[in-house]
Amino acid sequence: MNRREMIAAAAATAGASALPASGWTATSANARPKIGIIGVGMRGRVHLAELLKRDDVEVAAICDVDPWSLNAAQAAFDTAGKPRPRVFEGQNQDDDAGWREMLAQAGLDAVFIVTPWEQHAPQGIAAMEAGIAVGCEVVAGITLQDHWDVLNVQKRTRVPYMLLENVCYRRDVLAALNMVRQGVFGDILHLEGGYQHDLREVKFNAGVPGQAYGGGVEFGPMKDGRGGWSEARWRTEHSVHRNGDLYPSHGIGPCAMAIDIHRGNRFTRLTSYATPARGLHNHIVAKGGADHPNARVRFALGDVVTTMIGCHGGQTILLSHDTSLPRPYSLGFRLQGEKGLWMDINKSVHIEGVSAPHRWDAAQDWFDRYDHPLWQAHAEKAEGAGHGGMDFFVVHAFIEALKAGAPMPIDIYDAVAWSAITPLSEASIAGGNVTVDFPDFTDGAWENRSPIFALDGRY
Ligand SMILES: NC(=O)c1ccc[n+]([C@@H]2O[C@H](COP(=O)([O-])OP(=O)(O)OC[C@H]3O[C@@H](n4cnc5c(N)ncnc54)[C@H](O)[C@@H]3O)[C@@H](O)[C@H]2O)c1
Repeated sequence: MNRREMIAAAAATAGASALPASGWTATSANARPKIGIIGVGMRGRVHLAELLKRDDVEVAAICDVDPWSLNAAQAAFDTAGKPRPRVFEGQNQDDDAGWREMLAQAGLDAVFIVTPWEQHAPQGIAAMEAGIAVGCEVVAGITLQDHWDVLNVQKRTRVPYMLLENVCYRRDVLAALNMVRQGVFGDILHLEGGYQHDLREVKFNAGVPGQAYGGGVEFGPMKDGRGGWSEARWRTEHSVHRNGDLYPSHGIGPCAMAIDIHRGNRFTRLTSYATPARGLHNHIVAKGGADHPNARVRFALGDVVTTMIGCHGGQTILLSHDTSLPRPYSLGFRLQGEKGLWMDINKSVHIEGVSAPHRWDAAQDWFDRYDHPLWQAHAEKAEGAGHGGMDFFVVHAFIEALKAGAPMPIDIYDAVAWSAITPLSEASIAGGNVTVDFPDFTDGAWENRSPIFALDGRY
């Protein structure tokens, strides 16, 4: 059976996946799942807004350590005309009492984890141990061992776990996947993607609640009147101490789905390079002056980190992480096959024999023709949702799979492998750009698993 026949067969039997894949049953999984959210910061409230639009779930509890965010989240319930949730609080970022209490007491079926990266593994593990399904924001963990731990707990408990990787649901990304599956590009040979987003005004602000973007060059927890708020409070610290691709899933997710990683294919090896770190220091000096105390901070994170990943099927993937320099946003996708390619940056497609020789077509013309069934079915509901609508789809997929007792479309293997690119790239750079083997988290199961992601218009 070739790849396209495999996808067609998988689509034909997709209904069978409505059978519980895990043996896990939530008390109310088929009725109205009770959802909790740990972390109602900038991102958590986007998920909250999507959940509050739905009548098939109850957002029963929220937890945070930031009073401003808790107030803003509770106000969202009033605006939506929904009853306020139980509120669990902690004192500071390192305080795990609030979320542990919520997992123990709130009677949840599922929890969204939308906290700083370093908390995702312990919170995901605790939720699964408590029998609570997990929708985890990117990333799954920090160290390689974190990823094994999250995986092993999921395999033992069989509690559903989905990485909430929204870019997999971007309209152009899904149309391109549709084209891949219909053979328009021929076999895919090379892919590119990344996280190329000027985050200087995200990594630094004035520490004022409600003002997440810019306005100062502070970062870290508030101390002696200085510190950051939102991501500046925790994310910037990762740029001080770590050098690797710190945010791989937006780029790798769509690439992995296009070449059936963990479903007939797998990552085999990885090599990373990093440029010098200039951008964050330059930003501090430009906005805060050369005498600002943060001008003395030495950042470990190279401004542009590039990672080459080899795959069992022979494909190559080039990933970029570029968050500290002036640049317009672009995830820089490129899907290239035997017959042609899509390049995101110039919004262009070229297909031999259809496009004029050596000329680009406007990608939109192709994407209109190959619009994915998911977008055809739900575009109206996605209108107004975050990131051009894709934030609707990632929440929708998690909830619908949960209610159906079906396998999660972005599952535990995807979660740990995509996310483990970070510690592997750090190891490659620290070792002098050595090539490192990619662990087979599936223990050989990748060979015989069939694709399930976005096979039809359901979720
Ligand atoms: N997929 C996407 O497009 C996307 C976009 C933005 C952020 N994210 C991810 O979402 C996550 C959160 O990012 P954000 O931008 O909302 O950051 P944020 O700092 O605005 O929100 C994090 C929240 O977690 C809370 N928190 C911290 N420690 C806690 C604890 N011990 N207990 C309970 N709550 C605690 C903070 O007070 C804060 O309100 C990150 O993993 C980030 O990478 C994803």
